[in-house]
Amino acid sequence: MCGIVGYVGKKEKKEILVDGLRELEYRGYDSAGIAIIDSRGLHSYKAVGKLVNLEEKSKEFSSKEFGVAIGHTRWATHGKPNELNAHPHLGKNSFVVHNGIIENYTILKDELKLEGFEFLSQTDTEVIVHLFEKNTINSLNKFEAFKSTISLLEGAYATLLITNDEPDSIFFAKNGSPMLIGFNGDDIYFASSDTAIIGKATSVYYLEDGEYGYAKDGKVTLFNSDGEQEFRTKPLSSNKLSAQKDGYRFFMEKEIYEQASVVSDTMMGRVLDETIKFEEIDDNFFNDINCIKICACGTSYHSALVSSYLFERVAKIRCEVEIASEFRYKEPLLTKDTLFITISQSGETADTLEALKMAKKAGLKSLAICNVDNSSIVRESDISLLTRAGVEKGVASTKAFATQTLLLWMLVLYTAERKDTISKDSLKDEIEALRKCSNALKVDNWLHDKIHRLSKRYLHGHGFFFIGRDIFFPLALEGALKLKEISYLHAEGYPAGEMKHGPIALADSELFTVALMPKNLLFDKIKSNVEELSARDTTILAISPEEFELADDYIKTRCSSHVMLEFFEMMVVTQLLALEISIRLGNDVDMPRNLAKSVTVE
Ligand code: M6R
Repeated sequence: MCGIVGYVGKKEKKEILVDGLRELEYRGYDSAGIAIIDSRGLHSYKAVGKLVNLEEKSKEFSSKEFGVAIGHTRWATHGKPNELNAHPHLGKNSFVVHNGIIENYTILKDELKLEGFEFLSQTDTEVIVHLFEKNTINSLNKFEAFKSTISLLEGAYATLLITNDEPDSIFFAKNGSPMLIGFNGDDIYFASSDTAIIGKATSVYYLEDGEYGYAKDGKVTLFNSDGEQEFRTKPLSSNKLSAQKDGYRFFMEKEIYEQASVVSDTMMGRVLDETIKFEEIDDNFFNDINCIKICACGTSYHSALVSSYLFERVAKIRCEVEIASEFRYKEPLLTKDTLFITISQSGETADTLEALKMAKKAGLKSLAICNVDNSSIVRESDISLLTRAGVEKGVASTKAFATQTLLLWMLVLYTAERKDTISKDSLKDEIEALRKCSNALKVDNWLHDKIHRLSKRYLHGHGFFFIGRDIFFPLALEGALKLKEISYLHAEGYPAGEMKHGPIALADSELFTVALMPKNLLFDKIKSNVEELSARDTTILAISPEEFELADDYIKTRCSSHVMLEFFEMMVVTQLLALEISIRLGNDVDMPRNLAKSVTVE
């Protein structure tokens, strides 16, 4: 996803921009650019691909006098990844960088074109710089022109603008996309994430939505809809690792909280008003495909299982899921009408990679769902859809699972639309639910507090059953895996209906049952299964929007308008439960014993 860096001051500017952008590289990008205004005038460099290409192009350039500078790494949403579409975008003598999506850009662009403005790129961003230059004609000063410009923008943006008409200022605005301002003496920095300015700025202000202003003369003037605002900076640690935790105790905790925002990145440019769009997929890609096979390991395997219910139910396409290490040695029968999907957070998991190679050898089309661009699995696949979760540091996967599952749900809808198995109205309802996902993933303070308090009762016993039905069965598997990985307590996930076929033999007062009881899916059925366990004296922790009288502990969930929203909300509860139990047991949550983040051996 896109990254932004900005700087006002006397230090060498190219280095500050490129160093900062390098820290944001992990988010993925396909082109990069910088623009600098100093006493010698305007300078700009852009390059497709990695930052080394930009460095190569600008290797003769440096700017050590006072000046203003903005830089950007672009992840293509509107228009192809080429130099013309790379930021910064130039007007006559101003440059802009932007993260987010300007939803009304086509209307604005058409108006500007009628007035004679020439557009060089296919991006939504370019309207900002032309609009600004148009507004300078009738505005009192350049900042007023910037203010009028942002008042016309609809959608999400974090943007920086510099102009040769006022070469000592950076104009900034934030709405929906992250942006912060760093300070160190007279030097002022901007960035879309603090990692870009750690070691340079000593204090930081994280902008709120609706804030805008300018940096000039070593000072920032800030406004919101109520006028000029005072603001307080926070110290910025110079230690990358602790600063990156943003005040959370563990990366895993931070990553659980981040889920509500990263899903917007997963959906950006893909979930449109009435349809799902994947620029990565060719229109004919699904021709001749009658069946889907998914291979993955661990948590990624669980997201695959969730999607297999959805592919068959919604897209009416046969879908089989296999653990990659099993698939490799079973001499599988593969037919060419099968689309082979791999799912992997790291893109380097040896078993998944080898399974993919086998499928390719058998002539199957392949599609990877992955969080790491240019990883081995991405490079090996015909097509890859990136989950855009950002780097996941906790060994126990959380936001990778959320984004994989979300992306698979989107892919199911995309397939259903192409196969004509979903009505326009149902698709609209699904898209409405997708847009509510971020809300379902938000961690409320009361919820986290409650789980923290409950967790002290779950530190003993001989084990945990996580039970659920349908898509809540893979969630039960995932909930149990999370707990196992970081608490070292024994936990298993089961389809709730399987209890009486064996597992119930373990039920006694020393067994804990975590029951996933959604309102929208087989509530009465799972209720009966939980009653059977309760009758054997196990401690029941029920997670549900519906009160359940036999529960020893009850966590009430909010979402019930769509089953996937229930799914995501319950997923957060299981993640927090594992986290809190593990912390109470004094374990290293981020680096659990015996586990590695990327399993590159068989
Ligand atoms: O990188 P991958 O998604 O391919 O990794 C697969 C598993 O190793 C991984 O999901 C593992 O199960 C995690 N530790 C789960 O928290």
